This record gives sequence, structure tokens and C-alpha cells, in this order.
Amino acid sequence: MPSRLLTGEIVKALSWLFVILIMLGALGPSLACAASEKEIMPLAENIRITIPEPKYSSDISMEEALRERRSIRDYTAEALTLEEVSQLLWAAQGKTSPDGKRTAPSAGATYPLEVYLVAGAVDGIGAGVYRYDSASHELLLVISGDVRDSLAEAALGQACVREAPVNIAITAVFERTTNRYGERGIRYVHFEAGHAAQNVCLQAVAFDLGSVVIGAFYDDRVKKILNLPATEEPLYIIPVGRIAGS
Ligand SMILES: Cc1cc2nc3c(=O)[nH]c(=O)nc-3n(C[C@H](O)[C@H](O)[C@H](O)COP(=O)(O)O)c2cc1C
Repeated sequence: MPSRLLTGEIVKALSWLFVILIMLGALGPSLACAASEKEIMPLAENIRITIPEPKYSSDISMEEALRERRSIRDYTAEALTLEEVSQLLWAAQGKTSPDGKRTAPSAGATYPLEVYLVAGAVDGIGAGVYRYDSASHELLLVISGDVRDSLAEAALGQACVREAPVNIAITAVFERTTNRYGERGIRYVHFEAGHAAQNVCLQAVAFDLGSVVIGAFYDDRVKKILNLPATEEPLYIIPVGRIAGS
């Protein structure tokens, strides 16, 4: 009798253990996901930041900027000003006409590109990831906190990404263009990223800043770090900073 009682208790205990294991199994993936995504949790609030209006003149000619442009990968840690950041973003995709046309050409004006500021050190705003709103020339806070270390790791450990006070990321929603042009739209989107990136590099020269375009990175990791929607792909990362030793 006591041994039968004991067997009953063991069966009951095993059943509970089984139920607990099933529950843990079901929760496991979501718990793991929540932990790994904690660092890049997007903000719920819609925080918009007004940035300085772009300027339309500078001390350097277009020809000089073209001649001076070089890939620069060593920067000082000094912060960029909000004026500099504003101008770099405007150069990438700023609105230049009332109908929404921009600094860079776009196939059929479909505008597949989005531009993000990965701010590490910028006077007047906190470290974080911000989306540039071309129409209103504002920043929208996406993630608060410095993600440069993880971005550099996703870019195969390239130190310039970690050390630049800012990185400008160019991403694309391919469907905006492929919906109209089909497969060929893919190449149009890539062209457009090149136009926007070159604008940023030339604008950096005009400010005596160094920049380099980065194409070597893991797409899926960058996508996660920038908290991009499923339909948006990262194409370029452009670290920008004051040139070290100049
Ligand atoms: C599509 C593309 C991807 C690139 N990716 C990287 C990169 O991941 N890392 C890097 O340090 N430079 C990268 N570069 C910069 C080239 O190394 C650089 O443009 C080249 O050495 C010529 O030097 P210059 O830009 O000073 O004229 C890339 C350039 C292009 C056009």
C-alpha cells in the first residue's frame, strides 16, 4: 500500500514537471527574443526634433569638393554640430521643391530611400537612431542610446563605424520602385543609394569632415539594430567625423 501511494505521488510530480516543461518550451523563444532585443527596443512615443534649416552656399566650390573627396576612416571623437548633421541629411535626401522632389534623382520620383542618423556624439541631441523626415526636415527618434558598437560589429568590426561621431545609414523600401518598374526597379534603387551617398560625401568635404561609404555589413544584423520594418533593407552606412590629425 505505501509503495502504491508513493508511485501515485511520483506520477503526479512527473505530470506537473511535464506541464511546466511544456510551458517553458512555449515561452522560451519569446523570452530569448525579448532579452536580445532589449538593447534596441524602439520607442513608442513619436518624438520629433526640429533641425536647423539647410544652407545653400559654402566657401568651397563644387569642383574643389569633387577633387578633395577621399575615403577617410580616422576621426576625432569630437561631436558634430546639429547644423552639420542637418546639412548632411539634407544633402542625402533633402526636399528641394514644393512637390517633394529631392537633392538626389529618383526613378519616376518613387523615392524608395530612407535616411537614418546613427548619432553617437552630436551637440544638442542624445545618442540614438533617428529617421530623417525629408518632407518636414525633422528627425524622428527611433531608438534611444548609442548603437555604434553593435553597428560596427555588424559591419565586420570596422573601427570607423564605431569611432565616427555619426553614421548615416541609407536604406530602401524596394517595393516603392519595383511596383512600377518590376525587376529593373532593383537596379534603380541601387543607383539612387549611390546618388545619395555621393551627396553626403561631397557635403562632408564642404565642411572639412571625413567620410567613407561602407557596403560590407550583415544586412540582417543592421536591419535589427536600426529597427527597420520588414519591407526596408539597409544599403549603405556612411561614418562621418572630424578628420584625425588634420
Ligand atoms: C560599393 C562600395 C562599398 C564600399 N565598402 C567599403 C567598406 O565596407 N569599407 C571601407 O572601408 N571602404 C569601403 N568602400 C570605399 C572604397 O574602399 C574606396 O572608395 C576606394 O578605396 C577608393 O578610395 P577613395 O574613395 O578614397 O577614392 C566602398 C566603396 C564602394 C563604392
